[in-house]
Amino acid sequence: MSCANTCGSELISDSRAWRDLQDHVDEIFNLHLKDLMQDRDRCKSMIKEFDGIVLDYSRQRATQCTFSKLFALARQAKVKEKIDAMFSGVHINRTEDRPVLHAALRAPRGVKIICDGKDVVPEVWEVLDKIKCFSDQVRMGSWVGETGKVLKDVVAIGIGGSYLGPLFAYTALQTDPEAAKLADGRRLRFLANVDPVDVSIAINGLDPETTLVVIVSKTFTTGETMLNSKTMKSWLVASLGPGCVAKHMVAVSTNLKLVKEFGLNPDNAFGFWDWVGGRFSVCSAVGILPLALQYGFPKVQQFLEGAWSVDYHFKTAPLEDNFPVLLGLISVWNVSFLRCPARAILPYSQALQKLAPHIQQLSMESNGKGVAMDGTPLNYHAGEIDFGEPGTNGQHSFYQLIHQGRLIPCDFIGIIKSQQAVNLKGELVSNHDELMCNFFAQPDALAYGKTREEARKEGIPEELVPHKMFTGNRPSLSILLPTLDAYTAGQLLALYEHRIAVQGFIWGINSFDQWGVELGKSLATKVRQTMNKVRTKGECVCGYNYSTTYMLNRFLQGEIT
Ligand code: F6P
Repeated sequence: MSCANTCGSELISDSRAWRDLQDHVDEIFNLHLKDLMQDRDRCKSMIKEFDGIVLDYSRQRATQCTFSKLFALARQAKVKEKIDAMFSGVHINRTEDRPVLHAALRAPRGVKIICDGKDVVPEVWEVLDKIKCFSDQVRMGSWVGETGKVLKDVVAIGIGGSYLGPLFAYTALQTDPEAAKLADGRRLRFLANVDPVDVSIAINGLDPETTLVVIVSKTFTTGETMLNSKTMKSWLVASLGPGCVAKHMVAVSTNLKLVKEFGLNPDNAFGFWDWVGGRFSVCSAVGILPLALQYGFPKVQQFLEGAWSVDYHFKTAPLEDNFPVLLGLISVWNVSFLRCPARAILPYSQALQKLAPHIQQLSMESNGKGVAMDGTPLNYHAGEIDFGEPGTNGQHSFYQLIHQGRLIPCDFIGIIKSQQAVNLKGELVSNHDELMCNFFAQPDALAYGKTREEARKEGIPEELVPHKMFTGNRPSLSILLPTLDAYTAGQLLALYEHRIAVQGFIWGINSFDQWGVELGKSLATKVRQTMNKVRTKGECVCGYNYSTTYMLNRFLQGEIT
């Protein structure tokens, strides 16, 4: 029985558009991609280009009819209206009563984005101008450390959304020759985990005299970040004295009061706003400050421009040509109708090695929800398990399961012109060509597979035939970017951010809160209190189940012996 009947609430699954798609599933299950791929007109209708990005979704288990039904679902879910609401500053993050305006972070000067009666773009640019000024000073050596030396290394402390997005962008540009030249030997390290091992990795080889620490925390209360900040503060103070903090530590936060309480000069803080969700904050000072320190502000501005190009397209393009909408619909189809539990993010670019970890948080923290916006439990699956690795490394790791095991829709991301042109003399294919040969081969291998007959024709011994045949009919989509630079990295970021929002718009969930991470955090606080009592007052571990009591005791005893 649908919830509409029991609690008066409407889930999208109660709609005719949803039921139409459900009824359509059997029809699709009877089709094979190797046949669908014969239809030139179908394929042609499923390859689209926008601002240099090529999107080919012809290897989805879908027909043009499927897409008509998916667009009907998008209209039923009021996707267009929700996009408009997002860009108009409506408080669509209802459980936290906040607007969702990360797109405003990359809006060019002069564009108006109104939030609660106020144009937010001028404030965005005020912070960007401050970042430009500060990063120029540090890079040019007019802002120096306590002993007068140039600050050539940066440690950015932050976790989750205050880490993964900036790490993705930093890594994407690290091997771009132009960006690498601008980095000019500067080092940017990230310190996320509270594990002392991560601290030691972050500071390995760094000199406090030439190191700037950037504390990145939206709330400025996150346990790991606060503890790591204290650790880094004492690392600096131990060699430079307490006065060094003003020159060697700055912060990015929405909580400027706590920044001050931590002992930082508020002038050395870079603010952002409640309308930027943590995992959507790469384009705020969270990402822009560390990236500008590393690569210089003009390079980072190209990243913002790339993201804005997709923002504007998302806001204005009709549903049928709208890349984030198409991508979002494809994922909803795969998750909720074809019942695929996961999505593989497979960039054929080593520089995109941190894309999948970022998308994991972006997608799973956003859409890993069990209730609709009004609290009604969902009677369909929302969210998916995102994972990935750059090709071809992934091929030698988990592709076996994708080819012959579970049904996992894949996103293949390829680059036309590599950041690095390595052409060995006498070799017919360059490293990049070889990489891209794999990029083109994998989607067809997944789609077509290999039949029993084909395996037999190859002379495979009969007993091995079942092991060497491939069912095929495994969906994928391909995204081809002209190159990987600051602009296209920004495009890619915005493409996934909005795709994930579209999925949430259709599922009727709030993709912008993250209450699910709270329970673990509060239990950790309880354990921390217990540990302190055991250590300082000799109290025993109590109030836990047998398993936790046993393991905690084992840990605490191990520490003593
Ligand atoms: O625990 C999850 C989370 O709340 C993320 O949503 C957020 O990006 C991260 O922690 C870090 O939070 P903050 O930037 O406030 O330190």
